[in-house]
Amino acid sequence: MMHVSLRQLRTFEAVARLKGFSRAAEELHVTQPTVSKQIRLLHGEVGLPLLEQIGKKVFLTEAGEQLYATCADWLETWGRFEQTVADLKGVKQGRLRIAAVTTTKYFMPRLLGPFCAQYPGIDIALEVINRDRLLERLARNQDDLYVMGVPPERLDIEREPFMENPLVLLAPASHAMAHRKHIPFSDLANEPFIVRERGSGTRLTIERVFQEQKIPLKIRMELGSNEAIKQAVAGGLGLALLSQSTLSLDPSQKDVTILDVEGFPIKRSWYLVRPRDKQLSVVAKAFLDFLRAHVQLLAPRR
Ligand code: PGA
Repeated sequence: MMHVSLRQLRTFEAVARLKGFSRAAEELHVTQPTVSKQIRLLHGEVGLPLLEQIGKKVFLTEAGEQLYATCADWLETWGRFEQTVADLKGVKQGRLRIAAVTTTKYFMPRLLGPFCAQYPGIDIALEVINRDRLLERLARNQDDLYVMGVPPERLDIEREPFMENPLVLLAPASHAMAHRKHIPFSDLANEPFIVRERGSGTRLTIERVFQEQKIPLKIRMELGSNEAIKQAVAGGLGLALLSQSTLSLDPSQKDVTILDVEGFPIKRSWYLVRPRDKQLSVVAKAFLDFLRAHVQLLAPRR
């Protein structure tokens, strides 16, 4: 049996491909005598000449051609093995970078809990920002995955709905419409609204909804926090359109109520978003699989 080392094969492959000892030495970051020595050892093991040097040019012999073809296959197979090993190590330890819009703070940390328990070596960086800031991060490819309610309609973006994200209309519990059923949308025309800041997905949706209904949106106050908006609604400052996720932590909240307005709740989804051609790390893939297994999958909205 031949005793050939990976180093000898790598050296031979480089010499054969680059047709020269000095170019191979340069690529492999070693000296030329080191290249010559590796090739000499390989010749000794194979027992046949592999290369012929005429002047400064290097030619492959018949055995050399055969070995070169074998090397290409073998190095590719080895490369795949190295990738698998890196990936296997990657799930056990690695970093997962997620950027998620403000409103996801009501469920993302809770989803991350069991994921971290399953993969304790994974270090998670969760950026919680509004939609506009998230889109900037997406454009700069700063994170592994993005979670948002209103993904951009672009072909180079992959979007996967993974959970319902209904939008509800909140009013103070004492509001005149609190006990009415099937309130026509047009009755909202004179109501003051408390809305999220510009750049938020919730704000974008509320503006679209009022535009579609051709009803003017009367904004009394703009606030950057869902919690502050709920308090303002409870305080009687106006109505608000918020993701139902913002209510899930506090079902006993008695000072606000959900209005039964026609067309509400507005059906939407939470989406996992990433650039279509992005090569996902093994950690990111593990998180995707985890999410798919742990939350209800929805068909994409029209
Ligand atoms: P936002 O996004 O937190 O930026 O408002 C939430 C959503 O789109 O539902």
